Amino acid sequence: MSETYDLIVIGAGPGGYVAAIRGAQLGLKCAVIEREQKLGGTCLRVGCIPSKALLETTELLEQSQHSFAERGLIAGEVKVDLPQMMAHKDGVVAQLDGGIQGLLKKHKIDRHFGHGCLLGGGKVEVASGDAEPVQLKAKHILIATGSVSSSFPGMEPDGDRIGTSTEALAWPDIPEHLVVIGAGVIGLELGTVWRRLGSRVTVLEYLPRILPGTDSQVAKEAQKILQKQGMDFQLGTKVQKVTSDGKTCLIEVEGRDAISCDRVLIAVGRRPCTDNLGLKRAGVGTDQRGFIQVNSSYQTTASGVYAIGDVIGGAMLAHKAEEEGIACVEKIATGHGHINYGTIPGVIYTAPEIASVGETEDALKERGHKIKVGRFSFAANGRARAAGHTEGFVKVIADAESDRVLGVHIIGAHAGELIAEAAVAMEFGASSEDIARCCHAHPTLAEAIKEAAMAVERRAIHS
Ligand code: FAD
Ligand code: NAI
Repeated sequence: MSETYDLIVIGAGPGGYVAAIRGAQLGLKCAVIEREQKLGGTCLRVGCIPSKALLETTELLEQSQHSFAERGLIAGEVKVDLPQMMAHKDGVVAQLDGGIQGLLKKHKIDRHFGHGCLLGGGKVEVASGDAEPVQLKAKHILIATGSVSSSFPGMEPDGDRIGTSTEALAWPDIPEHLVVIGAGVIGLELGTVWRRLGSRVTVLEYLPRILPGTDSQVAKEAQKILQKQGMDFQLGTKVQKVTSDGKTCLIEVEGRDAISCDRVLIAVGRRPCTDNLGLKRAGVGTDQRGFIQVNSSYQTTASGVYAIGDVIGGAMLAHKAEEEGIACVEKIATGHGHINYGTIPGVIYTAPEIASVGETEDALKERGHKIKVGRFSFAANGRARAAGHTEGFVKVIADAESDRVLGVHIIGAHAGELIAEAAVAMEFGASSEDIARCCHAHPTLAEAIKEAAMAVERRAIHS
């Protein structure tokens, strides 16, 4: 006999496991189906967390090489123990996986190990290896199966020298020359990790700019800084084919000489993960790019089946998936649930970090929206000077008439932490004047946000 639940979640990434916990808090009998041993999804296993562990560790290395002497710190030569660095990263992942396992237990959520597949009529089959498949039943089924790396014909990972982010988080040696295809978030974050470890890093990008979608002034500044750090950008470059003989990789590029290197990272975006999910059989519709179609309550075209997170498209961010998981389950259990998509922050964890919330100046100008912009450089911020992090700036964009803040963009140290203030302010409908009149402690990097808000009316004090 099949077990019956109020809510079955397929996929235990940040969207899925958070949704199950919220469901349990609201009194629903919940189960989670996950085909990997570890919980936490892409984000914990091969995404946010392992990449940040490597970024944090290699940043220490960079500081020891470039900042210590100037500050009067004399250290011996800092050497890289790559296996230990990877072991530390794996340890962080294992600890957090244990944490999620504990949270599911605490909330009495059943965990089913295996591949989940919709059977229609509120039923799901869970298949694991040679074991007899198990059938489960639920009033509500939530698809939270996330995304996987994309590639193009002629540019496929080979499980060895040509890899995606998953492989680039665990390479056993430091490539002498790494070519990254795609100057997006993954390309710049993981390119930074390997550059710091000593690789020559060349980034090939199809578009004439890096970080499409990011405020263009911020992206230009980022390119300048990353180039100064040693990253080589070849923009407007169309890759045709990537091959490897097991040692050397060859990248054929339109209209130019081929490039050879010893490892390739393909970072050209991600696609929804819906393989063998039974979508057609259950009547769940997808769009042209394969993302599951949902309405504003995250309901799919099949009654009682919902979807959230990367698998429905939009910003592919862990916190967006979490918010959707919570909103979806709250709607199921209480009839209410809400997300303000205009205030979801995005952070790129390069050094300096790049963070933004709301609209870009480019998009607003393109729409003919009348705006006022205030900018303040970290070079004029006392705390940034003391810490030696003077690169970058804060940009506050406000409506020309109402003064309501429409977007905040930061490139600078700890931008990922600083952006939270802007997101909260925007959620509360703040004007630039509101931020400008809030007292910020001195000396802090956050003062740069206040000064950028003051600069909207040309009254910043330190510029
Ligand atoms: P996922 O995390 O992809 O989880 C889906 C889960 O479903 C997986 O565990 C998968 O095994 C499981 N699954 C799939 N199909 C089935 C099935 N049929 N049966 C059972 N289980 C199934 N985002 C950020 O916000 N910040 C970051 O710093 C960040 N860094 C990233 C770094 C990298 C290298 C990558 C690749 C991504 C990063 N992301 C980051 C993006 C983030 O990981 C995703 O947006 C997020 O994980 C999406 O969550 P999700 O719950 O929708 O899906
Ligand atoms: P992306 O969409 O950020 O960047 C892909 C880049 O590849 C784009 O610049 C695109 O123009 C380029 N490109 C596409 N096809 C190409 C081709 N044939 N040749 C050369 N360049 C090409 O995708 P990315 O970096 O793979 O990341 C996937 C997702 O993961 C992102 O949407 C992001 O939201 C998420 N992520 C988030 C992180 C964070 O929040 N810090 C970190 C890493 C990933």
